[in-house]
Parts: sequence; structure tokens; C-alpha cells
Amino acid sequence: MFLITILLIFVTWVYCKLSCGICKNSRHLVGKTIIVTGGNAGIGYETAKDLAGRGARVILACRNEARGVTARDRIVAATANPDVHYRHLDLASLHSVRHFADAIIKTEKRLDVLINNAGCYAAYFQYTEDGLLLQMQNNYFGPFLLTNLLLPLLKSSAPSRIINVSSLAHVGGVIDFDNLNGEKETKNTYNELKVYCISKLCNILTTVELERRLKGTGVTVNCLHPGIVATGFGSDNWLASSFLFYLKAFWKSPWEGAQTTIHLAVTPELATTSGRYFEDCAEVLPSKQAQDVNLARRLWEESEILVQFKASAA
Ligand SMILES: NC(=O)c1ccc[n+]([C@@H]2O[C@H](COP(=O)([O-])OP(=O)(O)OC[C@H]3O[C@@H](n4cnc5c(N)ncnc54)[C@H](OP(=O)(O)O)[C@@H]3O)[C@@H](O)[C@H]2O)c1
Repeated sequence: MFLITILLIFVTWVYCKLSCGICKNSRHLVGKTIIVTGGNAGIGYETAKDLAGRGARVILACRNEARGVTARDRIVAATANPDVHYRHLDLASLHSVRHFADAIIKTEKRLDVLINNAGCYAAYFQYTEDGLLLQMQNNYFGPFLLTNLLLPLLKSSAPSRIINVSSLAHVGGVIDFDNLNGEKETKNTYNELKVYCISKLCNILTTVELERRLKGTGVTVNCLHPGIVATGFGSDNWLASSFLFYLKAFWKSPWEGAQTTIHLAVTPELATTSGRYFEDCAEVLPSKQAQDVNLARRLWEESEILVQFKASAA
């Protein structure tokens, strides 16, 4: 019985490793500029390291200077590419998002890939200085504004790409426009898992609507689920105390978790693919709700109001 259990565990582990999609493309990226939000840790760090290894100019957009600089130094040492930079970006502050985008527009000649990777799992019912629900702002409203502010540079650099790191958790999200910013919640009713799922559904819906708005510009936008990845994600709250934590050996490594993002950033065959959702380096369909173009359009309009930004007409 013991041997059978060990064998089953081993077979499951082998299956997890073999079924994980790996980016096969070895394209060089010399002359390309790429922003990776949250590039100092987990999936974002591995993504940034891979892209720097291909010769790209990589900007790590991070909220903590010490962590950002340490990551930059490690990537430079590992890839021998000195063109890796830390810039401060705190998605939980729209002022910071605007400041970061202004500096990029002023200092960068081009932007070939924007990777909206940063995200959080916020256990507390908390609003930011902008009056937005913290977890929604970190995962959705902040990246929404950032993308809009960087669109002129992405357009002038076309062909260019936007990649939104979503999650399979989007299937549990339900959009209620009267509760998009937690208007109906209190400290007692706030459910961080529910909000996380909604924020990740918003990442996909915004991809759908942006694809429509970007038609003919040469800028593509796609999104993805990275898999279940053994990073620090959520480890300061539910995860560490969850039984799932003990299954970590079966999860993807951060390097494996970065593969679909890298695939979307570099694969030449995807140059014109837009508005799609990927998993394990292959296109898959997200939930029905995540494909609803009317919902996507309304979400876009509501988001413009909440972040106080009016995108130019589609
Ligand atoms: N891990 C998984 O199993 C999994 C599954 C599905 C989807 N995802 C998604 O994958 C993405 C990356 O997650 P990960 O697993 O790599 O987690 P991670 O190791 O915790 O990395 C998250 C990154 O986001 C940054 N970040 C968080 N809030 C930020 C803010 N306000 N401003 C700027 N940066 C901020 C973090 O910065 P600090 O280091 O300063 O905290 C960190 O660099 C997230 O969008 C997550 O939703 C992960």
C-alpha cells in the first residue's frame, strides 16, 4: 500500500511537470523595451530575467525600492545584460501610476511590451488614497490606468504587445456594477477570495474591450492564467494556513509559471493575435462571462469613471 501511494504521488508529480507549457521560442529581443510590473518577485522576476537574457531593455516597475534594486542586480548578474532598470510604481496609488507613466513617456523612446503582472491577495477590507478597494486597485484599476496612459507610446512603437496576467480564479468572479468598488461591503462581509476572483475577471474583460479599441493600431493585447505557482503569492494570509500549501511540490516553479507570459511576449506567430486568453502556452477559452463583449464595454466605461480617466474614443 505504501509503495502504491508513493508511485501514485510520483506519477502525479510527473504529470504536473510534463503538462506544464514551456515557451519553445528562443527569439532575441535586442532593441526592444519591455516593462514588467512586479518584476522583483515570483512570476514577474522570472519573466523579466528571461526577457533580459534575450537582450531586451527591461524596466522593473516595483513598489519597493530595495526589492526592485536587488532584483535588478540579480538579473544583471545572471544575464550579463546591463540594460535592466528599476522604476518606482505603486499600483495602489493612482498618483504613483501617473508619475511612473509620465516618466516613461518622457524618457523612453519606445515601448514594445507592457506586462501587467503585479497583483496581490489582500485579506483586509481597505480603501486606498484614491477611494478604491485596495485589492481591486492593485489587480485591476491601477493596471487599467497604467495601460491607458502608456497606450500612446505603445502605439507609436507598434507592432507592440500588452499582456495581462489574470488567473483561472476569474471563473469565480461575478460583476455587480453597484458593487464594483465594494460599495455594498463592510468589514464583516468583505470576502477577499471573491474580490480576487472579480479582479481577475476584470483583467480578462478589459483585454476583450481593449482588443476592440486597438483594432488597426498594431498593438495587441492578450491575457493568461500562469498556473498554480509556488511563489510568495498569498502566503501571508490564507495560503500558508491552507491544506493547499502542503501540495506545493505539485505546483509550478516560478520559472514554469512565467512561461506563458514569455510565450505571449516573444512568439512571432502571435504578432497579430489579440483579445485571447492563454494557459500553458496555448489559447483556451475563459468563462462565458469573461467573453461577454457588452459586459466588457460597460466595465471599461465604469472603470474610466472610477480612475477618473477618459480614454480617447474607440
Ligand atoms: N502564484 C499563483 O499561483 C498565481 C495563480 C494565478 C495568477 N497569479 C497572478 O500572477 C501574478 C504574479 O503573482 P506571483 O505569483 O508572482 O506573486 P508574488 O510572488 O507575490 O509577486 C507579486 C508581485 O506583484 C507586486 N505587487 C503587489 N502589489 C503591488 C503594487 N501595489 N504595486 C506594484 N507592485 C505590486 C509584488 O511586489 P512586492 O514584492 O513589493 O510585494 C510582487 O513583485 C499576479 O497578478 C497573480 O494574481 C498567480
